[in-house]
Order: sequence, then structure tokens, then C-alpha cells
Amino acid sequence: MTDIRIEFDVTAEMRDGTVLRADVYRPGGTGPWPVLLSRLPYGKQTPMMAVMLDPVAAARRGFMVVIQDTRGRFASEGEWEPWTYEESDGYDTVRWAAALPGSNGSVGMIGVSYFGNTQWMAALSKPPELKAIAPMITWSDPDDGLWTRGGAIELGITVPWSLLQGADTLTRRHATDLDGLVSSITGLVQDFDGLAGGGYGELPAGRFPAFARHDLPELGYERSRREPEWARSCRVAGRHDEVDLPTFQAGGWYDIFSQGTLDNFTAMRRAGRSATLVMGPWSHTNLRNVVGDVNFGFSAHSDFMGMRGRLTDMQFDWFQRTLGDGNGQVLEPDTGKVLLFVMGINQWREETEWPLSRAVDTDFHLRADGSLSLEPPSTAEQPEEFTYDPMDPVPTAGGAVLMTDEFRPGPLDQTAVEAREDVLVFTTNPLAEDVEVTGRVQAVLFAATDGPSTDWVARLCDVDENGLSRNVTDGIVRVRVTPGEPAEHVVDLWSTSIVFRAGHRIRVQVTSSNFPRWDRNLNTGEPEESATTARVARQQLFHDPARPSRIVLPVVPAR
Ligand code: BEZ
Repeated sequence: MTDIRIEFDVTAEMRDGTVLRADVYRPGGTGPWPVLLSRLPYGKQTPMMAVMLDPVAAARRGFMVVIQDTRGRFASEGEWEPWTYEESDGYDTVRWAAALPGSNGSVGMIGVSYFGNTQWMAALSKPPELKAIAPMITWSDPDDGLWTRGGAIELGITVPWSLLQGADTLTRRHATDLDGLVSSITGLVQDFDGLAGGGYGELPAGRFPAFARHDLPELGYERSRREPEWARSCRVAGRHDEVDLPTFQAGGWYDIFSQGTLDNFTAMRRAGRSATLVMGPWSHTNLRNVVGDVNFGFSAHSDFMGMRGRLTDMQFDWFQRTLGDGNGQVLEPDTGKVLLFVMGINQWREETEWPLSRAVDTDFHLRADGSLSLEPPSTAEQPEEFTYDPMDPVPTAGGAVLMTDEFRPGPLDQTAVEAREDVLVFTTNPLAEDVEVTGRVQAVLFAATDGPSTDWVARLCDVDENGLSRNVTDGIVRVRVTPGEPAEHVVDLWSTSIVFRAGHRIRVQVTSSNFPRWDRNLNTGEPEESATTARVARQQLFHDPARPSRIVLPVVPAR
């Protein structure tokens, strides 16, 4: 390959006449080449693109690369309405890209997160030339990680994302009015900078005042509540049968969409499609080896992958298998693989399935003496009580978060969280041998509150030999109950793969908030769209033979 030619701002007319613009990278020579297409709202020339997809590297591998600004963003015309047009614009763009000079007529799509979802939406629209997709760190059901989780609002994602996207919207709105532009952007930046200092706490959380203040579209929580049918515009869950394509999913254990990545994979396998899965110890924006406070070893880095080479090269190899390439090389057809990074032992492991059928769901009981025990309570143990004050919520400390930079993702020291009186802690004895947990984790809590609604949060932690506790995975459930009546609540902590090393201890935290990652339940039962007053709740957690609160861990037997 001697050269690469780049054409900027190539126009594509959508079915309603709106013009979208793309940059097209062609390998040297005349082709024809298979096309790799990305459709994103973040600016087709932002440096972030090169981190996720290096178009030059892809062109050198014999792909023609098309990177398009989605509707209403940067070089493309139209109104910015997150998600609304991605299915129809995806269809029109695939067909257009397949017909570009140099294309061999086969299109694959690649990209992360929003532009992982634009792949799914295009695939659901079934353009005949789309032959494969490689969505990475993206969701399946927007009400499991994008807009809400367990019924709580994903405030930590929604608020900064919506404000950040506002910069391009305001720039377009004030294109001919410099003073207006300066004052509107200044106001937006002020709100963004003020989030960690109190801005996240604006109420009502479900009609977040800053969005109206700047007249900006939001990520979609609010619109999906007003127009439930519209939520379909970025929901993949329930529609996988409609996608008859091979897929390559990649995600991270500390990614905000880790469960979505796994769910998309399992649904595609269930539908009988070839599906590949790669799960690293990564967060949404960090595919390197140090995530949060933990160095998982250089093998974990997505540019190394334990000597397998760069993740992007794995994706290019996969596209070469599924689409062929313009360099005339033919590789074996893809049959679908599973590659998991097992934290704790910090090793990649090849598997053939997810979830692992050899994992055994094992109950670890939350006991009144603070132990986490394989033994269920044999007599009625005293319930534990704590006070949950929404005006003094448990602060977010790590996890699968994507928030303003004050809130780092990944495994972090939990000392300050665990010192609080509104956080109950249950811990095993030091482990005599390694215990591997790989799969989906659930907490079953028998609990009561003295109001009509509250939240239950459960967090799995790894406590090292020095007593330092770090979060592994967590979840929340928002419940409506009869005040004072005990009820069973299941908290979905999503999935992980970790070996708790011999000498470490397994810990579970139980509490009622994780703010500002999730909006606070104000304990009044009022809708999130209007609730602005809070009440303090008295919480009870039960541990007795009839109400055995527990965490269910998928334990993988040693081979
Ligand atoms: C992303 O594209 O990274 C993204 C999309 C929606 C919410 C948060 C992040």
C-alpha cells in the first residue's frame, strides 16, 4: 500500500432531502474495497475517532473507510434529535456508501457507544449491503444503563452528556450572532463546571432544569417518558432476531454499558448468529490496563491483548473474514469466539460461551453479625436499621460510571463509603483458596422502609489482605412498597469476571443511594418529573430463615 486518499465532506442525501456529510478514506490503487462505515454525533474529525477507529490504519488494511456526522451534528444538515433518525439515516447511508466509487458493495459498520448503537439501528433497518457490525461498549435496552437502571435515572450519564452535546447545538443556533454564542456557551460551561459542586443535585431530577435553561435536547430519558413509542429509536433489546448478520461485540467490566454488550452477544447467539465477544477490565473511556486504582497488567491494554495484538487489528481481521478485503487476502471464515479478561488473576481466557454453563449460582448470606456466609440464618436474627437521608446521600465512588472528571470510573478505595452509618457491610472470612466469580450477580434483599418508595443499592467488593476494599460491580432497584411492610427486592448487579484471591475477603455493601451516579429517591413516591421535596427514610434489612437476604454469585469451580 503506497498511499491513502481522503475526500472530505462527501455529501449523502437522505430520503427527506437532508444532506449528511462524511469523510472518505480510500487505500491507494483502484479497489474495489469493502467499506467500513461509522456514523457518529461527536464530529467526524475529533481525535477521539482515532482512538476508537484509526481510519488510516483501516485503509492500510485494505478497507475504504466512511465516517459520517449524524443528522444535525457538525458538518451535517438537519435538526439534532438524539436517536430519532438513526434507523432511517443508517439505512440510506449504508446504501449510499455501498455505491461510492471504489466500493466492492459490501459494508461493515464499526464504532463505540452512540456509534455502536447507530450500527444496531442500521442493521435493524436491513440495508442489503450491510454484511457485518462490530458494536463496542454499547447498550441493548436503554432502560438498563443508558437512561435508567433498576428504575433510577442514570443522572451521571444523562446530565454531562446532554450538556456537552449542547456546545455544537448552540454554535449552530448562534452561527450569525457572536454575542449570543459567547453568552450561551459561557452559561453552558458554567453549568457544566458546577455539576460536581452541587449542579447534579438540581430538582426535579426527571425534568432537569439545566436542559430547559439552555433549551437543549437531552439524552432521551425525559422524551422517552413523554413518548414511550419513541424509545424504540435506540432500543436493540427484543429485536435481535431481526438482525441476520455476524457481530463482534467488545466491552469492559467497568463500562457503563457492560451488561448491554453481554446481552447483545447472548441474544445474537440465541438467534443462531455468529457472534464474537471480547470483555476487558475497561471503563467507557479507558481501554488501557490501569482502570480506577488497579493496574491489571499490561496484557489488559487494548493495544496488546495478552500478545494478541491490538483490539482494532482483531476487529479488522474479523472484518476481513466476514467481508473479505481489497488486498486479496482471504482468511478462514469467522465462527464466533469469546475472550474474557479475568480480573484478580489478570489473565485473558478463551471461552466458547457466555454465560459460562460451568458457573454455579451460590448464595452468600448477609448475616446480622456482619458476616457474609454460605450458611443461611437458622434463627431469627435482628433486622438491621439505618436512616437514608436523600439530602445526604452516599457519594459515588468508582464503578461503571461516565461522569464529569471528579468521578473516576473503575475499582476505587471504598473506605469512606463503608465508614458511613447508612451503609451496611457484610464480609466473608479471609478466603482459604481462590474463588472465581464469572457471570451475572444478583442480590436478594428482604427489606422494609417507612415510606411509599425508596431505593436499594448493593455493591460487591474485593477486600485485599491489607483490608482495603474496592468495588467490583453494583446495582440499584427503585421500589414502591407499603410503608413498613417487609418485601423481597432483587438488585441486578450486572456481570463481572474476577478471582477473589486466597487471603482476600468478599464484601457486600447495602445502602439506599449512590449519588450523583443515580438520582436520589426522595422517599415520597412522587414522580421524578415533579418531585422536589425529600423525606428521611428509616430502612430495615432482614436476615432470618424466612427472609434470607443474600447475594448470589456465579462461582466457577477450579478446573
Ligand atoms: C457515548 O457515545 O460515549 C455515549 C452515548 C450515550 C451516553 C453516554 C455516552
